[in-house]
Amino acid sequence: MKVMETERLILRWLTPEDVEFIFGLLNDPTWIRFIGDRNIRTLLDAKNYIITAPMKMYTELGFGLFLTELKDGHIPIGICGLIKREGLEDVDIGFAFLSRYQSKGYAYEAAFATMQYASEELGLRRIVAITSKDNDASSRLLERIGMSFERYITMPNDKEELKLYGYGDSPPVE
Ligand SMILES: CC(C)(COP(=O)(O)OP(=O)(O)OC[C@H]1O[C@@H](n2cnc3c(N)ncnc32)[C@H](O)[C@@H]1OP(=O)(O)O)[C@@H](O)C(=O)NCCC(=O)NCCS
Repeated sequence: MKVMETERLILRWLTPEDVEFIFGLLNDPTWIRFIGDRNIRTLLDAKNYIITAPMKMYTELGFGLFLTELKDGHIPIGICGLIKREGLEDVDIGFAFLSRYQSKGYAYEAAFATMQYASEELGLRRIVAITSKDNDASSRLLERIGMSFERYITMPNDKEELKLYGYGDSPPVE
């Protein structure tokens, strides 16, 4: 299902047929370095990931991480979308592109459209993002789409301190 379209890109739901692309993306050196090793060693692992992560979220919430493809030739280049995860009160934006499609403005185009979709279509008043402290490309992109650094946080069952960015309504006072 197509979710949104920008000048150069289409964002649509992932399906089990995107297995080879997802296998490549989750083993891309930049994914492994900045997001982590998801142990996707076979095409079956990649298929299971699609079904149990993004597809499950579409069914449960109506949104999730979307496949991002070039309009020109329908070539898949990355994923971008919205995630609701344990440990974060608000919905967060996530993105990852194959190395060869980075630094071309595609990530900005997809992420900007996703922010608009989140507020205009889903009516979300606050959107957050988490990123590793050393992921400068991600931090720059988050700032370019209007997000501001708020504080450092740690997710459940993880030791790494991450940067929390926010957009929209102020976070509730603790
Ligand atoms: C994080 C990530 C999505 C950022 O994407 P990106 O490819 O760097 O983003 P963009 O292409 O939109 O912009 C990057 C640069 O390209 C430049 N650029 C080149 N051509 C451009 C064009 N035609 N239009 C706009 N910008 C262009 C931008 O100016 C920008 O420069 P800067 O980073 O020096 O400020 C990408 O690095 C990635 O997939 N990393 C691995 C996964 C990951 O870390 N995900 C985030 C987890 S929190």
